[in-house]
Amino acid sequence: MKIRTRLIVSITALLIVSMLSLGYGILFVQRARERDDMERSAKIIENSVRRVALDAMLQKDDLQLVSYVNFLKAQYPALSYARITWLSGGRSRGVSLGESSPAGAVSERSLEVADPSDPARRVGIRLGISDTVIERSIRENQRRLKRIIIQIWLGTSILWFLVAYYLAWSITAPIESLGRVAADIGAGRLGRRLEWRSQDEIGHLVGVFNHMSERLAELDEAKRNFISSVTHEFRSPLGAIESFIGLIQAQAGGPQCREHREYLCRVEANVQRLSRFVNDLLDVAQIEKGRMECVLQPVRLRETAADVCKFFEAKSRAQGLALSNRITDTPLVLADAGRVRQVLVNLIANAFKFTPRGGTVELACEQYREAAQRWLEVSVSDSGRGMEPRDLSRLFQAFSQGRNVAEGVHGAGKGTGLGLYICKSIMDQHGGRIRVQSEPGRGTRVSFTLKVAEREAGSTA
Ligand SMILES: Nc1ncnc2c1ncn2[C@@H]1O[C@H](COP(=O)(O)OP(=O)(O)OP(=O)(O)O)[C@@H](O)[C@H]1O
Ligand SMILES: [Mg+2]
Repeated sequence: MKIRTRLIVSITALLIVSMLSLGYGILFVQRARERDDMERSAKIIENSVRRVALDAMLQKDDLQLVSYVNFLKAQYPALSYARITWLSGGRSRGVSLGESSPAGAVSERSLEVADPSDPARRVGIRLGISDTVIERSIRENQRRLKRIIIQIWLGTSILWFLVAYYLAWSITAPIESLGRVAADIGAGRLGRRLEWRSQDEIGHLVGVFNHMSERLAELDEAKRNFISSVTHEFRSPLGAIESFIGLIQAQAGGPQCREHREYLCRVEANVQRLSRFVNDLLDVAQIEKGRMECVLQPVRLRETAADVCKFFEAKSRAQGLALSNRITDTPLVLADAGRVRQVLVNLIANAFKFTPRGGTVELACEQYREAAQRWLEVSVSDSGRGMEPRDLSRLFQAFSQGRNVAEGVHGAGKGTGLGLYICKSIMDQHGGRIRVQSEPGRGTRVSFTLKVAEREAGSTA
C-alpha cells in the first residue's frame, strides 16, 4: 500500500475510532444522568405532594390536593396514577386519578400525612410512577443525542479526511517528485531540479538533493570538457603519425627492410585503432552537447553498401568469413551518406568480431510502408555467437558491452562499447529506428530504417 493511502487510512480510522468511543461514552454518562434526574424528580414530586397535602388538610380543602395531583399528572407523564384516601374518625373515602392498571412496569410510592391539630385525620397517597414511560423518555433523549453525535461525527470525519489527505499529500508529493527527478538523473538527464519550498525536513532534503544534482551536472560537464579537449589534442598528432607512417612505408624498399615494414604495419594498425577510438569519443562529445547533426539528402544506398563491403573484403578473407551484399537495387533514401557509412562499418565490424571462421555476414534490405511513409530497412546479419537476451536492453548506452566480449573477440580489439550508441544517435537524427535481434549461439541481426525519398517513393509506389 502506498504511504499516502496508509497515512490517510490510519489517520481517518484513528479519528473514527476515537469519535465512536467518545460518542458511546457521552451516551453512557447521559443515560446515567437522566436516570438520576428522574429519581430526583420523583422525590421532588413526592415532597411537593406531601407539602400540598398538609396545606390542604390545614385548610380543610381536599379539592386543593386533588387539583394539584391532577396538575402534576399533566406536567409529569411518568406519573401514571395517584390514589388519594382520606381517613377521618374511622371513615374513609378516596379518589383515584389516572389509569387503574397501567401497562408496563410501575413503581409505587406511598406517603401519609396527618393533620397536626387532629392526628385522627389523615390522608394517604399512592403515586404510581411508570418505569416504562421513564425508559421511553430516556430512550427518546438518547436517540436525539445519538443523532446529534452522528452529525458531528460525520462532519468532523469529512474535515479530518481532508486534513489527513493534505498531511499525507504534503509528505508524499515531494517524495514522489524526488523519485521522478532521481529517475531522470539516473537516465542521464543530470542537473534536474525539484521546485519545492518548505521550511521543514522535506524542504531541507529537496535542497540537498538539488545541490547534489547540480554538482553531478557540473562534474559531468567537467568530464565531458576534459574528454573533448583530450581527444582533440590526440587527433592532430595521430593524424601526423599516420601520414608519416604512410610515407616511411612508401619509401622503405629492399629485403633488409621487410622486418621494419612488418613493424610499421603493426604501428599503423594500432594508430588506426587509437584514432578510431578518438573519433568515437569526439562523436560522443558532439552527441552529448546535442551538436551531432546529419545533413539528409537523397542517397543511393546501394553504392554506400558496395563501398563498405569493398572496405571489409580483405578482412573477411583474412578472417575466413563469407561477406555477402544483397543490397543491389534500392530506392533513394533520405540520409547522410557519411554517417550511414559509419553505421554500416560499425555493424559489420561487430559482426566480424563475434563470428568465428567459416561463418557468414550478410547485408540485406527490404522496403515497407508505414502510414503514408515508405521505409527501407537495412540489416546486417551474422551467423556468430549472438548475445544473451539480458544484454539486449542496454546495448545502446554509451560504454556498454555484452557479456560475450569476455569470451574474446575475433580481429583487432575488444572495442569500447561506443559503436551502437553512436549508431543509435545517428539513426535518431535520421528519424529512423535501430534494433537488435539475437540468439545465443545462432547469430545476430541488427537493422535500421531510413525514409525513402519522396520523389523515389512516388515513382516506385
Ligand atoms: N553482431 C554481434 N554479435 C554479438 N554481439 C554483438 C554484436 N553486435 C554488438 N554486440 C554486442 O553489443 C556490444 C556493444 O556493441 P558496440 O558496437 O556498441 O560496442 P563494441 O563493438 O564493443 O565497441 P566499439 O564499437 O566501441 O568498438 C558489443 O560489445 C557486443 O557485446
Ligand atoms: Mg562496435
